[in-house]
Amino acid sequence: MTTLERERESESKGDAASSHESEVIVAKDRSEHAALGAELLARAITEAVDQRGIARVALSGGTTPSETYQRLAALKLPFDKVEWYWVDERGVPPDHERSNYRAAAHDLGLDGGQHGKAFRMEGERDLSEAATAYEKRLRGAFGVAGAVSFDAMTLGVGDDGHTASLFPGIGAVSIDDRLVAHIAEQPEKKLEARVTLTAPVILEARLLLVLVRGASKRAVVEKARAAGPEDEVPSRLTQRAKGRVIWLLDREAAGQ
Ligand code: 6PG
Repeated sequence: MTTLERERESESKGDAASSHESEVIVAKDRSEHAALGAELLARAITEAVDQRGIARVALSGGTTPSETYQRLAALKLPFDKVEWYWVDERGVPPDHERSNYRAAAHDLGLDGGQHGKAFRMEGERDLSEAATAYEKRLRGAFGVAGAVSFDAMTLGVGDDGHTASLFPGIGAVSIDDRLVAHIAEQPEKKLEARVTLTAPVILEARLLLVLVRGASKRAVVEKARAAGPEDEVPSRLTQRAKGRVIWLLDREAAGQ
């Protein structure tokens, strides 16, 4: 039995707290969290390549997914058939230490081009133009009329309940007329400018893998999985997802 099967078995015995139809997996420690994350992404990639000949994966930034991405890169996968996209980006160039592209490209070893093709959001240009350009790129990849359905997407959750760059209290989670949005800087709310995929794209993903670790996230995970206004806790939008949603937590984030 693999680690993942063992975790699932323990979940079905009631070890995990599921309040709606998403799945919850609780990893026993940081290393298992990363291993399970990589295993879930690897399965989604393999299935997509087997079924459709290509896997398109959208990556979140933040600190949590780093080890998952590193473990994923170490697996034997059909990387030549994988396209990597980004869930969100900060207004910085791709070599900046705060660049989500830079972090994931480093962890996944994308620099040499052997681990798949990377399509980054251009944080170095005017961010509203960058959002329009990325929307065009997505339309080019997925087709003009079709749904933009990523085979897998990683998401994180901020202490304030945000996911992607859909921050609370600014209506960002309700944007539904674009695939990609520019979130303007709001110094009074301490929000920096960002580019982000919007709810219509997030909700279409075949797999949403929500990666959360640490005791400081326990309260927000509970809120995100409970009913309530999405603008207060934008990560609640995962409750409307059309595909599979897996919350991959460590024991601290799960309150165990
Ligand atoms: C980013 C994100 C963001 C992140 C959360 C959680 O650019 O920072 O994509 O949505 O996933 O803030 O971040 P941590 O993993 O660092 O807790």
